[in-house]
Amino acid sequence: MKLIFLGPPGAGKGTMASRLSDSTGIPHISTGDIFRDNIGRQTDLGVKVKAILDRGDLVPDELTIDLVRNRLEQEDARNGFILDGFPRTIPQADALETFSSIDHVVNFDLSREEIIKRLSGRRVHKASGRTYHVVFNPPRNAGKDDETGEELITRPDDQVDAIKNRLEVYWKQTAPLIEYYKKKEILRDIDASPAPDEVFAKLKGLLRI
Ligand code: AP5
Repeated sequence: MKLIFLGPPGAGKGTMASRLSDSTGIPHISTGDIFRDNIGRQTDLGVKVKAILDRGDLVPDELTIDLVRNRLEQEDARNGFILDGFPRTIPQADALETFSSIDHVVNFDLSREEIIKRLSGRRVHKASGRTYHVVFNPPRNAGKDDETGEELITRPDDQVDAIKNRLEVYWKQTAPLIEYYKKKEILRDIDASPAPDEVFAKLKGLLRI
């Protein structure tokens, strides 16, 4: 199954993609995780995009499109994938059509107020990308990853100014994709406000998995 998870920052796309990938084996491809991994390893790509991610702006289309095209050519993505965070602009969506087909676009819907609560309480295990929330999904020991016991961090783009910018960028550049995929009749809306188990159950129902 070839899926796109669309929605504002903090709506739970990564959390749900990771759960779905664990339960079905469909690879979870997050452009944000790929960029953050490159930043962590200080690759040429990582050095180029660090300031962009920290501000909450978008990485240029050409760079992002090439990255995804190459990733989708890998063997594990041949029969299916969950694209989390791509496409994020109309040119990215147009480009994707030239190298892949999509079965469903799941649109995670969440209010601005909830988005801010979720992002400001998010904590991440840097090495694995495992994500927690101080209130909604706390680790067993405060501030520590459940599996390794290592320190959790706050993403630089989860600071208040970067969150505001990411939301503006989302409304200007990414939200038009809702109409884009509605017209193609592959958009499925999901209310992302309930607790994770409930959202996940609805997601599986929607995809008939
Ligand atoms: P990316 O990593 O994709 O960030 P994002 O889209 O802003 O999404 P987030 O990871 O912030 O949120 P999410 O929806 O995955 O929520 P999560 O599951 O973590 O991109 C980062 C940056 O990379 C971009 O700003 C850009 O610079 C660049 N980039 C990436 N893709 C690009 C592209 N295509 N083009 C150009 N640039 C690109 O959940 C959030 C929190 O809520 C967590 O704490 C979680 O535990 C909690 N939570 C989740 N679900 C629930 C629930 N149901 N109830 C309560 N809490 C919940």
